[in-house]
Amino acid sequence: MKTSARTHEGKVALVTGAAQGIGQAMAVALAERGAYVIATDIHVPEETLEKIGPRASGYQLDVTKIEDWKALEFRIQDMGCVDIVVNNAGYFPNSGIDNLDFPTWRKTMSTNLDSHFLSVKTFLPAMRKKKWGRFIGISSNMVGLAIPGMSHYITTKMGIIGFMRGLANDVAGDGITANAVLPGLTNTKAIADQPDEIRRATWEQQAIKRLGEPEDITGVVLFLTSNDASFITGQAIVVDGGQYRIG
Ligand SMILES: NC(=O)c1ccc[n+]([C@@H]2O[C@H](COP(=O)([O-])OP(=O)(O)OC[C@H]3O[C@@H](n4cnc5c(N)ncnc54)[C@H](O)[C@@H]3O)[C@@H](O)[C@H]2O)c1
Repeated sequence: MKTSARTHEGKVALVTGAAQGIGQAMAVALAERGAYVIATDIHVPEETLEKIGPRASGYQLDVTKIEDWKALEFRIQDMGCVDIVVNNAGYFPNSGIDNLDFPTWRKTMSTNLDSHFLSVKTFLPAMRKKKWGRFIGISSNMVGLAIPGMSHYITTKMGIIGFMRGLANDVAGDGITANAVLPGLTNTKAIADQPDEIRRATWEQQAIKRLGEPEDITGVVLFLTSNDASFITGQAIVVDGGQYRIG
C-alpha cells in the first residue's frame, strides 16, 4: 500500500507532458501528496486537471519553444516559486539509422533535451533565492538495452542523465538537487501500437514479470522530490521491474 503522507505540502510542482501516461500519473501523485501542480502539455491537459481538481492549474507549453517557457513564467508569476520541475515530455519515433532524417533527429533533441535546459534557465533563479529546488529528468532504461531504431532517442536519454549529473554540481550549494529517472516499458498510449508478444518479450526479461504501469514510476519521483532525498543528487535511478541492472 502506498503512503498517503502530505510530504509535498506547500510545494509548487511543474510537470511537462502531463496530459497522459507517465506525466499524468506523476502530476496526480504530486497533488495527492499535497503539492500544487502546474500541469503542462502541447495542449492544456484537461483530463489531468479533472483528475486533480483545485490543486492544479493547466497550461499549454511546447517544451521545445523558449517563448512558451517565457510566457508560462509570466502567467504563473503570482503562484510563487516553482519548487519542483519534472521534465517528462518525450518524443520517441522508431527509425533505423538508414532512414533517420535530420528533422526527426533535431525534433528528438529539442523535445527530449532542449526542454531540460530551458526549464532550468526559467526556474533556477527563483529556486536559488529560496534555497530549495528539485529537477527530475525522465530518461529511459532503453539507454542500456539492445533495441534497434532508437539511436536518436537513446542519445537524448543518455543526455538527460549527463545533464542531471552536471547540473547537480552547479546547483548543490543552494539546496537544489537534479536526478534522472529511467522507466522501463510502461503501459501508456505511447506503446499502444506495440504487439502483445513484443511487450511480453520485454517484461519477461524483468525480475518482476509484468508490464509496468504509469503509477509504478511515481514513487521514486515523489521520494526524489521530497525533503527525504535532500542528500541524493546527480543520480540515475532505474524503475523497470529489474530488467536493466547497473553498478
Ligand atoms: N512508455 C514507456 O514505455 C516509457 C519508457 C521509458 C521512458 N519513457 C519516457 O517517459 C516519458 C513519458 O512517456 P509516456 O509513455 O507517458 O508518453 P506519452 O506519449 O503517453 O505522453 C507524452 C506526453 O508528452 C507530450 N509532448 C510531446 N511533445 C511535447 C512537446 N514538444 N511539448 C509538450 N509536451 C509534449 C505529449 O503531448 C504527451 O501528452 C517520455 O519522456 C518517455 O521517453 C516512457
